[in-house]
Amino acid sequence: MKTKSELLLQAYIEGHIEDEPEILKELNRQAHLTLLHPRMLSGHVQGRILKMFMQMIQPKHVLEIGTYTGYSALCLAEGLSDEATLDTIEINDELEDKILKFFHASEHGNKIQLHIGDALSIIPTFPYSFDAVFIDGNKRHYCAYYEACMQKLNVGGYIFADNTLWDGHVIDEIVDKNDLQTKGILEFNDLVKRDSRVETVILPIRDGLTILRKKE
Ligand SMILES: C[S@@+](CC[C@H](N)C(=O)[O-])C[C@H]1O[C@@H](n2cnc3c(N)ncnc32)[C@H](O)[C@@H]1O
Repeated sequence: MKTKSELLLQAYIEGHIEDEPEILKELNRQAHLTLLHPRMLSGHVQGRILKMFMQMIQPKHVLEIGTYTGYSALCLAEGLSDEATLDTIEINDELEDKILKFFHASEHGNKIQLHIGDALSIIPTFPYSFDAVFIDGNKRHYCAYYEACMQKLNVGGYIFADNTLWDGHVIDEIVDKNDLQTKGILEFNDLVKRDSRVETVILPIRDGLTILRKKE
């Protein structure tokens, strides 16, 4: 639960950055009406940040793990050139129609290829490597996603990993041993800190966004 001043600051930020495109407002609205966990979607601020990162990096191939409604995929695609591609993987096949409806309605949808299935099975099958990856799947499997993505990430490429502060649970003094999501995030944060192949920063925006750059 956010405090009143956190909510005011968020509204202030939202009022002073690029507007959320109409199609994403509608997607957000429909997610709140029809889905169980609409808070999982990236939202206005993080969505604009993802778009800007793509404009800064200018990647050729981008990979996303965890499409959900397609909100973040559409933000990533918005920042891509017309020649670039985004492969996004979603394990829940019940979401497919909802996702495709918005991809088809968007002027950026033609850059996106949706794959339904488990990212850990699909990633090794891509015939090309990636310049940027957005990891936003099951928190229990972040270390496995990371290792699979590193095999397919170009040197100089970036991984963005969402929710790496996990609602502040990363600093809990006692972690419930049955809380596999918190354990997954803690293991991921420790793994990338130890990994000499990458440079790492954590941005304390939203739920924590880690940025990794592959050095070698
Ligand atoms: C936090 S949501 C993604 C939100 C979306 N990236 C956004 O920001 O709008 C996580 C999604 O990952 C999917 N997921 C979980 N495990 C997965 C896996 N192994 N492979 C692909 N998708 C997975 C879930 O079904 C869920 O839709």
